Amino acid sequence: MDEIKDKFWAIGGGKGGVGKSIVSLMLGASLARQGKKVILVDADLGGSNLHTLTGIRYPLYTLADFMKRQVENIEEVLIDTPVENMKLICGADDMLGIANPKNTQKTRILNNLNKLEADYILLDLGAGTSFTSMDFFLYAPNKIVVLTPQITSIQNAYGFIKSSLYRRLNQAFSKYPEALKIIGRAGGAASGEDIDSIEKLHEAFKSLGEDIQARLEECLQELKIKVIVNMVRSNKEREVSNIVASVAKNYLSLSLETIGIVQYDKILGMSINNMPEFLTKRRDSIASINFYDIARNVIKNSPKHDGAPTHSEPVSTADSHSDKAVPHHPLPSLEESV
Ligand SMILES: Nc1ncnc2c1ncn2[C@@H]1O[C@H](COP(=O)(O)OP(=O)(O)OP(=O)(O)O)[C@@H](O)[C@H]1O
Ligand SMILES: [Mg+2]
Repeated sequence: MDEIKDKFWAIGGGKGGVGKSIVSLMLGASLARQGKKVILVDADLGGSNLHTLTGIRYPLYTLADFMKRQVENIEEVLIDTPVENMKLICGADDMLGIANPKNTQKTRILNNLNKLEADYILLDLGAGTSFTSMDFFLYAPNKIVVLTPQITSIQNAYGFIKSSLYRRLNQAFSKYPEALKIIGRAGGAASGEDIDSIEKLHEAFKSLGEDIQARLEECLQELKIKVIVNMVRSNKEREVSNIVASVAKNYLSLSLETIGIVQYDKILGMSINNMPEFLTKRRDSIASINFYDIARNVIKNSPKHDGAPTHSEPVSTADSHSDKAVPHHPLPSLEESV
């Protein structure tokens, strides 16, 4: 795996319909308008629709062509969008097996994307906690989780973060059976096990030596997650990211950072069938203004492209590997928390 990949931003969130694709598209467009070279990648391999949102009905090439090696150079699958400076790589829909690519395929995709010249490569992930979504999420050094004020979305966002963390731990400790056993015990927390948080996992790791503990710490440090709350309709709803942040802190020892709030935008909602027009003509809409601010935040947060190697590892350890169940943590209700 090539290592210089600071330009990757993954946009995930667990729940379907919370606005991951809209965030990818609008954030990409806003970055492009601020002079950045952007590539949107529809990494929702089972249900791609970014091309539809950019007004492309029948893409000439998709990621499937690259995956099937009908196209060797990934540059050939880049498609222009209505926004200058923003290109798109369409997802690979309706193809048996493509929605769950093997590790070698995922690695080939990511390595080749990494070679593309761009300031930002935004990966629009599919809903749920598929290995594909989690692996793309873990690969990107910059990670955004999108949620809405709905309690189900908050739960799914937390579930996505938790599953991604445990997948990362299973990968990181794949060569340490003793550590894996303890991680597995954490997986059994729902059935009365005592390790129901990363803090307790840390405790249990003490018997395995300092190197293992340091490795755990490293994994947690790597997982820097940013949150966007979408479709916000009131001031109270702006605060919902605090709920997921506090549970992630308590149970997963992760500090989440909110990098943006997107208000519910009626005009956007009504423009879904004609997003190219919305993107080009409705730059004064509420959501467009919100995304301008988020893009500024993203630019501020961007690691410098100084060629310094990052320290993540290959995509994953085994295709057949099935992550153990991860502990279920109670989420406070919206009313209690905000
Ligand atoms: N800020 C917003 N204001 C109004 N409507 C919005 C907003 N964001 C998203 N929507 C609406 O939500 C719908 C779903 O958004 P989107 O397709 O981006 O979700 P998704 O998370 O990518 O879903 P999936 O998991 O199915 O890919 C959009 O079609 C749009 O109608
Ligand atoms: Mg989507």
